[in-house]
Amino acid sequence: MVLDVRGLSVGIKRGTRCFPVIRDISFGIARGEILGLVGESGCGKTLTALSIPGLLPPAVEQTGGTIRFLGRDLGARSPRELSRIRGRDLSMVFQEPAASLNPLQRIGVQIAEVLRLHGERDAALIRRRVLDMMEHVGLPDPERIFRSYPHQLSGGMCQRVMIALAVINRPRLLIADEPTTALDLPAQIQILSLLRKTNQELGTAILFISHDLSVIRRLCGRLLVMYAGRIVESGPVEAIFRKPLHEYTRLLLGSIPSRDRKGRPLATIPAGLKGRAGDGCPFAPRCGYAESRCEAAFPEAAGFDAGPAYETGPAYETGPAYETGPAGHWAHCVLAGRGKEAGRG
Ligand SMILES: Nc1ncnc2c1ncn2[C@@H]1O[C@H](COP(=O)(O)OP(=O)(O)O)[C@@H](O)[C@H]1O
Ligand code: SF4
Ligand SMILES: [Mg+2]
Repeated sequence: MVLDVRGLSVGIKRGTRCFPVIRDISFGIARGEILGLVGESGCGKTLTALSIPGLLPPAVEQTGGTIRFLGRDLGARSPRELSRIRGRDLSMVFQEPAASLNPLQRIGVQIAEVLRLHGERDAALIRRRVLDMMEHVGLPDPERIFRSYPHQLSGGMCQRVMIALAVINRPRLLIADEPTTALDLPAQIQILSLLRKTNQELGTAILFISHDLSVIRRLCGRLLVMYAGRIVESGPVEAIFRKPLHEYTRLLLGSIPSRDRKGRPLATIPAGLKGRAGDGCPFAPRCGYAESRCEAAFPEAAGFDAGPAYETGPAYETGPAYETGPAGHWAHCVLAGRGKEAGRG
């Protein structure tokens, strides 16, 4: 496994109290895998992403769980070790590429800086590698872009630069948090194919975060569905599209109109700050099938194909993948364990 997250919990401190925003989530990413993480705004996707490299903002803290990266516990690393891992073995791209680039520095210098920071000294080699990487990410006329400033580039071009920065050291894991959300459709599609190419050619595993299931479907093999700080469903993307097991996923897919809110979009419930503070299914207040046991406790994972999680190709490592819940396709929903469509009339 490249990444193994177990029981991660994150809370927001307000005075003497700490409000849970991520509750006991577990997942793994195998070598070379592209894992999707989907959920509506405010459900905790970005804080999950930021927990991994230890970049949680002030007043937000990890309150439980372990994060193992390349077999080693990140929580046990010093800040210096963590910053060495970031940008080398593990890197990130975000939604707003322009905001992440230095407006006053030429593009080439910014990409070269990542190589320098991680120990490369040979100026000619650095230049060569930067130009090669610009070609990999599909920046036209690399020599010219090398000398350009961020404001001279489109949003899509800036995102390519960010990906170049992120992958130039051939990281084992790239965390991409809504990298296409701010782009127009053609640029979105190009960035998705660039990420796929990076995954295939450099072998980089990717955690791809989006609120948009159609984007996830284009890129990811496996998917985690998050709701109000919990992972409520997990499985191969196509299996989830074919037969979502959790009621929230079903509504998200829009495949089956909900009984009581026909066609209306689901309202946002910020995780942990509003709505349920209890330990039951976080979706219960909005679910047309909620029963008393849904509210009594977070439902056990149930589902299908509880075989080994990674058996689908040579890129996947085998071995103990998930002790944390049934592998395959599962959901934390009382309806998931029942027979086909049971209880949903
Ligand atoms: N720096 C912060 N300080 C306080 N609350 C935050 C901070 N960042 C996020 N939150 C809250 O934590 C929850 C999860 O946020 P986030 O992970 O950004 O969601 P997502 O990426 O899924 O939209 C939200 O309710 C959000 O308001
Ligand atoms: S566990 Fe119960 S409340 Fe939650 S989604 Fe499933 S049926 Fe609805
Ligand atoms: Mg976010």
